[in-house]
Amino acid sequence: MPQQWVQEQTDTDLEIQRLLKQSSQLPRHIAIIMDGNGRWAQERGLPRYEGHREGINSVRDIVKASATLGIQYLTLYAFSMENWKRPKQEISVLMELLQYYLKVETPELKANNVRLQAIGKLNALPKRVYRQLLRSINETADNTGLTLTLALSYSGRWDLVRAMQLIALDIRRGKLSPEDITEELVSSYLLTADLPDPDLVIRTSGEMRLSNFLLWETAYSEIYITHKYWPDFRRNDLYQALVDYLRRERRFGLTSEQIRQQRQQFDNVEYLLRHDES
Ligand code: FPP
Repeated sequence: MPQQWVQEQTDTDLEIQRLLKQSSQLPRHIAIIMDGNGRWAQERGLPRYEGHREGINSVRDIVKASATLGIQYLTLYAFSMENWKRPKQEISVLMELLQYYLKVETPELKANNVRLQAIGKLNALPKRVYRQLLRSINETADNTGLTLTLALSYSGRWDLVRAMQLIALDIRRGKLSPEDITEELVSSYLLTADLPDPDLVIRTSGEMRLSNFLLWETAYSEIYITHKYWPDFRRNDLYQALVDYLRRERRFGLTSEQIRQQRQQFDNVEYLLRHDES
């Protein structure tokens, strides 16, 4: 348990988490498309990078809330391969922010049992960011709590193509035959081989797209879209997404009394969320 982060929680927050945990159906893996940083800034008459800067505070809060809730895997789409087409200045601010986050946050991740990983074409990152990323990954490698995976210079199609090339190479080397190719085998060649498929994908800022994120892995994921921009998305918004997800789950084999109790718990969470915001 991330002791330090648990101690920082308010009583209401602890109570919401207690109620959510009671459902025992929380997603194992949550994947998030963090969108809307630019619009958040522009609507405030600020340069776009201010949206990315504030977005880091959302990253911190969502990582902490996920860890204390006992979520096992959290994957964040932090920089897509397509994002390299953005203006040089914006890319350089994003890289600065990423390096800063990793440097400042690694001791906290370490202390709170979070294991950091990354997926994507990582060697495309600037050298200093890449080195810091490897340091942070190494320093948290033995942690056993939340696995936080950053998708960086990532593209779902690129990962699938990469996997197909590796499979073809193994066939040429005689290690595999075409009949060995199954869904499980394809999954095992992807960069996400060690992660379970996401149970829940959250996208902020209202767009209804996957944007090349975990294309293979999200085949059966539930999708939750909120109109909030990423810099405004904090732990209470995550809880709302979880209530929505839990309500969608069909409970085969439960008695009507058990279903009634669950409904009551979700109503209680929403009541606390409404009061926490007012
Ligand atoms: C999308 O907003 C967001 C990104 C491209 C980057 C997300 C990065 C961060 C939150 C900061 C660094 C990340 C970590 C993990 C420390 P957008 O710019 O596409 O917004 P827009 O659609 O409104 O233009």
